[in-house]
Amino acid sequence: MSAHTPSPPLIRAVLIGVTGRMGQALMRAAPHFSELLITGAIASAGSLALGRDAGEIAGAGHANLAVSSDLALALKQADVALDFSTPAALTANLAACRAARRPLLIGTTGFGPGAQREFDAAAADIALLVAPNTSLAVALLAELTAHAARALPHFDIDIVEAHHRSKRDAPSGTALALAQAARAARGQAPAPPPEPAPARPADAIEIASLRAGDLVGEHTVLFTGRGEQLSLAHRAMDRGIFARGALTAALWLAPRPPGRYAMRDLLVSKTVT
Ligand SMILES: NC(=O)c1ccc[n+]([C@@H]2O[C@H](COP(=O)([O-])OP(=O)(O)OC[C@H]3O[C@@H](n4cnc5c(N)ncnc54)[C@H](OP(=O)(O)O)[C@@H]3O)[C@@H](O)[C@H]2O)c1
Repeated sequence: MSAHTPSPPLIRAVLIGVTGRMGQALMRAAPHFSELLITGAIASAGSLALGRDAGEIAGAGHANLAVSSDLALALKQADVALDFSTPAALTANLAACRAARRPLLIGTTGFGPGAQREFDAAAADIALLVAPNTSLAVALLAELTAHAARALPHFDIDIVEAHHRSKRDAPSGTALALAQAARAARGQAPAPPPEPAPARPADAIEIASLRAGDLVGEHTVLFTGRGEQLSLAHRAMDRGIFARGALTAALWLAPRPPGRYAMRDLLVSKTVT
């Protein structure tokens, strides 16, 4: 074996929504990923940050990377894109990535019901990973939730989530994904979040959303039987966990063929650290 281990090829990534809370967390986390280089910093066409340095905005030092709204141009010089922006930008972002044949990780949440069709259509052309939560521990929470839902078939399931006061969607995308994991494990069809009702339908999974202060994100799945309760909980204390998970997933996604992928696919193919 040679004394010199060849460096892995550098993966070039575009961050869409780079000026937001998550975009800035990604800019701060990226320098810790030696195989990754951020080559595109995208904001909206009306962004006040156009032309400014994305690293400086994030408090990560000068990155020599000007914020732009030209996604098509940025994709030409990149291997993968990460989207943490807004549901309104979905159609345009998917179209640009399909035209450029670039893999896309979507971390944005709050999409309407029509988005699934758009995701499936795009996955015919590109590798697409849609993750309402890019924490690998939350991917494990979904697996544990599915396991408990199967193992405790007569227990009621409820989800409590809490986030910062500026979060736009409620329930959170993570809460809906956890409910979906439990439903699928019990062989139930996907369902919209139930309205609060005096008599609880047998298959209801209720979600309680709390918006307060600067909470980063908390999810608790409760399994309640007669005289006992099992509680599975995850608490995010720093957006860096989502940023590190997203960048790990982007590196994993970049070489994949077209298709739909999820964070749980990383759980089976890599050791969680
Ligand atoms: N997957 C996860 O683990 C995870 C974790 C946390 C949050 N999220 C989700 O990620 C999304 C972003 O969260 P956040 O807290 O960072 O929100 P945010 O602070 O509001 O940032 C969103 C950014 O998107 C930019 N933007 C708006 N329209 C755009 C467009 N058409 N093209 C490109 N950029 C555009 C805006 O920047 P300009 O005004 O400068 O254009 C804004 O700064 C939300 O949906 C949130 O729920 C996901």
